[in-house]
Amino acid sequence: IPKSTLKTNLNRFHWGRRLPSALIIGVKKGGTRALLEFLRLHPGVRGPGPEPHFFDKYYHMGTDWYRKQMPPSTQGQITIEKTPSYYVTPEVPARVYNMSHRMKLIVAVRDPVTRAISDYTQGISKQRGSKRFEEMAFLNVTTGLVDTSWRAIRIGLYAKHLKRWRRFFPLTQFHFVSCENLILDPVGEMAKVQDFLGLQKVVDQKYFYFNETKGFPCIRKSRSKSHCLDKTKGRTHPKINTTSLQRLRDFYRPFNLKFYQLVGKDFGWY
Ligand code: A3P
Repeated sequence: IPKSTLKTNLNRFHWGRRLPSALIIGVKKGGTRALLEFLRLHPGVRGPGPEPHFFDKYYHMGTDWYRKQMPPSTQGQITIEKTPSYYVTPEVPARVYNMSHRMKLIVAVRDPVTRAISDYTQGISKQRGSKRFEEMAFLNVTTGLVDTSWRAIRIGLYAKHLKRWRRFFPLTQFHFVSCENLILDPVGEMAKVQDFLGLQKVVDQKYFYFNETKGFPCIRKSRSKSHCLDKTKGRTHPKINTTSLQRLRDFYRPFNLKFYQLVGKDFGWY
């Protein structure tokens, strides 16, 4: 194809890098990678693989830098990025609002107890000889007083973080994805996300199969091409004793109930 023709074609479709109109803002270990990978199966969605961390770490780099992190897209496509730390970083909601008060915000959430264990498991995979989960989660293992200063515990206080976001954005601009349901019923959960984003339901049952070895839903791209998320997703968690689990459940219960009330949906973590 002659270069000039190519240029006109590209212009016609307004091919270029665009700032996101939707963000997957959290939560860490909430199935954010699976969600982004599933969304990127949609021809109407474009998004970078890596986490840009613009609104928390690289804000000083400016909007042009941020745009450059995005893949090229056509005018009809939606650009989405995921950076799970956005949900819990206090400065982020105002910054997002300043860029676009119409931003669509997607939050993948998971039982905060399992989320904390998953977070801990990820931590020890990078660092050997660390403390046991219980030693980190409780200030006093005998009394079971929860250490609310530990980040893995704090991230799970979903209602607190949501209140900060709600000062800037109405509830209608949020969509909450249940991580548990994304594993059990990826088709149903993806139908709801596509609806929220105003996309046709292209990502449907054709794209998923359950891989027994992995123990998770995986992606079928064509008859011969399929893939699961890598081994950093779906790790084996250490066994935590039932008393500790119960104490953590008791600790999170009021925060979970508050979260259900704020969102208007019961996620079933008890
Ligand atoms: P575990 O590794 O603790 O099982 P994130 O991508 O936000 O870091 O979340 C990781 C979690 O996504 C995994 O935590 C896993 O439970 C969950 N997940 C959801 N759907 C998945 C899928 N299809 N394949 C692998 N992991 C998935």
